[in-house]
Amino acid sequence: MNAVHVLNGPNLNLLGTREPETYGFATLADIEARLSALCKSRGIILHFRQSNHEGDLVTWVQEAGRAGEPVILNAGAYSHTSIALYDAIKAAKTDVIEVHLSNIHSREDFRRQSLISPLARGVIVGFGALSYDLALEAFLARTEAADDRPHRKQIVKSISHAQKHPWQRRKREQKK
Ligand code: DQA
Repeated sequence: MNAVHVLNGPNLNLLGTREPETYGFATLADIEARLSALCKSRGIILHFRQSNHEGDLVTWVQEAGRAGEPVILNAGAYSHTSIALYDAIKAAKTDVIEVHLSNIHSREDFRRQSLISPLARGVIVGFGALSYDLALEAFLARTEAADDRPHRKQIVKSISHAQKHPWQRRKREQKK
């Protein structure tokens, strides 16, 4: 993973002052600063954006898809309504982790359904600003596990080689 897109939907520009009892006191700039530090320490480019317009989110999901880069998406209220965003994610064929600051399942009925969830690699809700960090950690852990795979394959290969050819090991031990 060389880059990650963190996309924020409507009203998330108001974080910090908007219903802090539900969304906390962290501003979107605070969240961006934390993710930016985490990305910098892991050598990853962060594209962090917010818009109140559905079409912007669609365009940015398309961009991430073309680049083959993963997306952390808090689509705000569009999560519950946007077929356009659903279609964009489906077409983008890139990994999306859906995040919400609040636990949408413990709130009003209309928030309990997300059109995005069925397409998402995973969903993280209810941890406030930390939901974003957890999503980024999940992507990083998946990438690091994947990067490690050839190394692990090599280890397994040498172990099975040693098991198949114990005489070579004995020969080596005799030489010592
Ligand atoms: C939200 C939850 C949505 O239902 C709401 O419309 C938002 C914020 C969240 O992060 O908890 O704008 O996405």
